[in-house]
Amino acid sequence: MSLNWITPADRLRSLPPYVFARLDELKANARAQGVDLIDLGMGNPDGATPAPIVEAACSALQDAKNHGYPPFEGTASFRKAITDWYRRRYGVNLDPDGEALPLLGSKEGLTHLALAYINPGDVVLVPSPSYPPHFRGPLIAGGEIYPLILKAEQDWLIDLAAIPDRIAERAKILYFNYPSNPTTATAPREFFEEVVAFARHYQILLVHDQAYAELAFDGYQPTSLLEIPGAKEIGVEFHTLSKTYNMAGWRVGFVVGNRHVIQGLRTLKTNLDYGIFAALQTAAETALQLPDKYLVEVQDRYRTRRDFLLKGLGELGWSIPTPKATMYLWIPCPPGTGSTDFALSILQKTGVVVTPGNAFGAGGEGYVRISLIADCDRLGEALDRFRQSNIRFDLPTIAI
Ligand SMILES: Cc1ncc(COP(=O)(O)O)c(C=O)c1O
Repeated sequence: MSLNWITPADRLRSLPPYVFARLDELKANARAQGVDLIDLGMGNPDGATPAPIVEAACSALQDAKNHGYPPFEGTASFRKAITDWYRRRYGVNLDPDGEALPLLGSKEGLTHLALAYINPGDVVLVPSPSYPPHFRGPLIAGGEIYPLILKAEQDWLIDLAAIPDRIAERAKILYFNYPSNPTTATAPREFFEEVVAFARHYQILLVHDQAYAELAFDGYQPTSLLEIPGAKEIGVEFHTLSKTYNMAGWRVGFVVGNRHVIQGLRTLKTNLDYGIFAALQTAAETALQLPDKYLVEVQDRYRTRRDFLLKGLGELGWSIPTPKATMYLWIPCPPGTGSTDFALSILQKTGVVVTPGNAFGAGGEGYVRISLIADCDRLGEALDRFRQSNIRFDLPTIAI
């Protein structure tokens, strides 16, 4: 029997088409034709999780007390490890019993926060381009997105002065993310101070995504929203172990900050999930207690790749600013070429997968993102293919 008459809920129809899904289809076709794809599309770290974390998980797995449902609010010791880590990294003091909540990855939490706090019709300020859950979560919740278009000439920082008063007065939440995916932009401390003042003035909840703060280079130290005086009264910050510790598949993240907001998210999650497998929370504690040499290793890996690729692309005539953080390069398309056409053209001519900037919202049009998720040998192969195909020029228009 066909179930064609069952239609998905309206909230699913409100979502813009998923460019990644179309890209996946094209990748599958290319693979089926025997193309040796170099996939620099997703932000999926290619390294192994550090051995002490894997060892901690193995021994925690042997312990039967970890085999039942974990506590809804996460284990007390993981929450304490989170707040200890925040004190060490950012000098921020947090109460492990109300100002920190483990998550099944920060994507889960970012989206569930929208469900916990956004009513249909609520205005949500979201930069464009941005990490898709920052707008897809609010859309699923029925929110009205007011896109804050970011521009290269403003260093991809949000232009708070450009937000009309009538919008700021209606806005309930502002999502933002520095160091940024996809633009790689970083924000100075003064910017965070301005955002906090703005949010306090208009009574807007600040949701800052700190996913890439540990992947910073050349001595740059990103700012945590919670370092700013008064931020905890109006904000929360999401973090993840996925990038810092190569743990994307483990699904471990957390949110810290305003206790009232965290309590709301916790109430929602109590109705949806049971949290992270307790053995993995033990391993995650180990991750947060690792000596800094592990951070330096991961930073070195991405910095080396960044420099290698920037040099090679520079020789091909692509001038790209050097990112101070993240695991990406954000590259302008040749004049007159759209993101999708450019990404598809690269895929078809070279078998290299990059992400079209418009996958991150209309503000990403005119750019593509390259993830630094392959070693320099493989990146060198990508450069050779670019060189041979003269990819910069002669771009056909391809309909997606
Ligand atoms: C800005 C940003 N936040 C969060 C995430 C997701 O992290 P997690 O693996 O914890 O869900 C990503 C993943 O690419 C990201 O780019």
